[in-house]
Amino acid sequence: MCGIVGYIGTKNAKNILLNGLEKLEYRGYDSAGIALLGETLNITKVKGRIAALREKMEDEAFGTLGIGHTRWATHGVPSEENAHPHESASGRFTIVHNGVIENYQELKETYLQDVPFKSETDTEVIVQLMDKMSQTTQDTVTAFRQTIQLLQGSYAIGLLDNEDVDTLYVAKNKSPLLVGIGNGFNVIASDAMATLKETDQYVEIHDEEIVLLHKDSIVMMDVEGSVIEREPYTAELDMQDIEKGTYAHFMLKEIDEQPFVIRKIIQAYQNSDGQLEMSQDIRNTMQEADRIHIIASGTSYHAGLVGKQFIETLASIPVEVHIASEFAYHTPLLSENPLFIFISQSGETADARAVLTKVKKRGFNTITLTNVPGSTLSRESNHTLQLHAGPEIAVASTKAYTAQIAVLALLAVDTAREKGVQLDFDLLQELAIAASVIETLTEQKDKIEELAKTFLNTTRNAFFIGRGIDYYVCSEGALKLKEISYIQAEGFAGGELKHGTIALIEEDTPVIALATQKAVNHPIRSNVQEVVSRGAKALTISMEGMEQTGDALVLPAVHEILTPLISVVPLQLLAYYAALHRGCDVDKPRNLAKSVTVE
Ligand code: F6R
Repeated sequence: MCGIVGYIGTKNAKNILLNGLEKLEYRGYDSAGIALLGETLNITKVKGRIAALREKMEDEAFGTLGIGHTRWATHGVPSEENAHPHESASGRFTIVHNGVIENYQELKETYLQDVPFKSETDTEVIVQLMDKMSQTTQDTVTAFRQTIQLLQGSYAIGLLDNEDVDTLYVAKNKSPLLVGIGNGFNVIASDAMATLKETDQYVEIHDEEIVLLHKDSIVMMDVEGSVIEREPYTAELDMQDIEKGTYAHFMLKEIDEQPFVIRKIIQAYQNSDGQLEMSQDIRNTMQEADRIHIIASGTSYHAGLVGKQFIETLASIPVEVHIASEFAYHTPLLSENPLFIFISQSGETADARAVLTKVKKRGFNTITLTNVPGSTLSRESNHTLQLHAGPEIAVASTKAYTAQIAVLALLAVDTAREKGVQLDFDLLQELAIAASVIETLTEQKDKIEELAKTFLNTTRNAFFIGRGIDYYVCSEGALKLKEISYIQAEGFAGGELKHGTIALIEEDTPVIALATQKAVNHPIRSNVQEVVSRGAKALTISMEGMEQTGDALVLPAVHEILTPLISVVPLQLLAYYAALHRGCDVDKPRNLAKSVTVE
């Protein structure tokens, strides 16, 4: 959601910024813009894609200092006027901003009543305040500090002063932003991916810090102006991880990477004897909990539902799973020693962060499962469990979901063992089997593509049914399908359809059923019969040992608790091919953002 890139050096910033913004496209956006400062200031903006911005930027656009932005509309419609960069009324300052300024109305009324605004954004308030503050002080740094001190909410800011071509002004609070260190240049980026081509050396900016970037140096300070020293680190990202290679879409590449991710998780969570091992801190935290609350959104919430089943059945600790945006406003009654587990691929989701802030104030213990070490949720919770999925670029989450399930299974098994529960299986071995099974499924793309064409090419809606753990995977399958193909899709507990939703079944309505759980194989088959007798076209995916004539796909058997890792794969592929054949933009579905940093 929104992305920032900035450059100061000796080269023309234009292509560095355009390339950087392209790398941030995955976050989701609806407009984009770049400001270049050289002898003159050149601002170009478009509603739409970076390709259009590239086309629109004049050949002669030049500046050794520049800022670029992708915007996902919050305050004000997607339009060129509302796209960043924004200029102050005097034309002296130019800004790009991610985040939400919560007190922007109040600031406007208190300080800026006489200022003509050009956009509907909260961002413009910041740049207009810079104009105001610089009228009473000659020093831009002081004006910048004064402005930042007035802001409430979240921000990552890059600001240009066109009277000073040697400085890029930067500030951060709650929204992600990094400084990249180069030789004779420096950059800023929402994500190291955007500027990895330029440098692999980065410095974190913490909340409420300000940075002055010059081409040969950086100065970090707090909002009071006290200088801060921080060592750079090497970004452990591989260019290959963030390129599509021979794949048509990142989503397909990421589906195929799932076996590799599971193997990486096995390696990361085993000790030198090949035994499962978690840190002692995590073990203690799990043992102390009298109840666990899992907090997550979207796909991560669906992984949380599966995690609840794992922890309750294996470790016998009661677990509640909450939609993050609901929990923040409707906190349930809490036990004496609750533990909060946050699941977030990006580690930046504002809904989860709102809960984290709240529970931290009450002194409760927190663990974050995330794919992004150093992300906000990871930094702010007591402990982190890494997902090791590598960068996930397609908006639709695939490999992060399977990584979440694998890590939750490891956490549940480790906790059970620590409690003295004897388990008759070796989870690491079972995960290795599951990884190989996923590989065989990803080799069946042609078959799944045909099923997608037959069942989903023209339909307006589709239903996914399952029981027990299959129901949770169905919810995820339905989310995948709706977000990228725009088919209205819902996941239901098989037995629940007849309590209302079955009224929607018409001739040829696709119903995708999962039958991978022995205990409920018979009832889910009856549910399939119920919809078929009302005209539905059923596509049943079962597992070896439970198959019946007419099943569209029979998945190789894996350990019962790991079935979600396997059964989700054909659902991901069905969604992918449905979207592809319906001509949808698979990796960048409309209205969606990858990292949802607003509540
Ligand atoms: C769906 C999807 C979203 C995310 C949700 C939470 O494919 O990706 O539903 O799962 O926005 O994001 P994270 O996991 O980053 O907190």
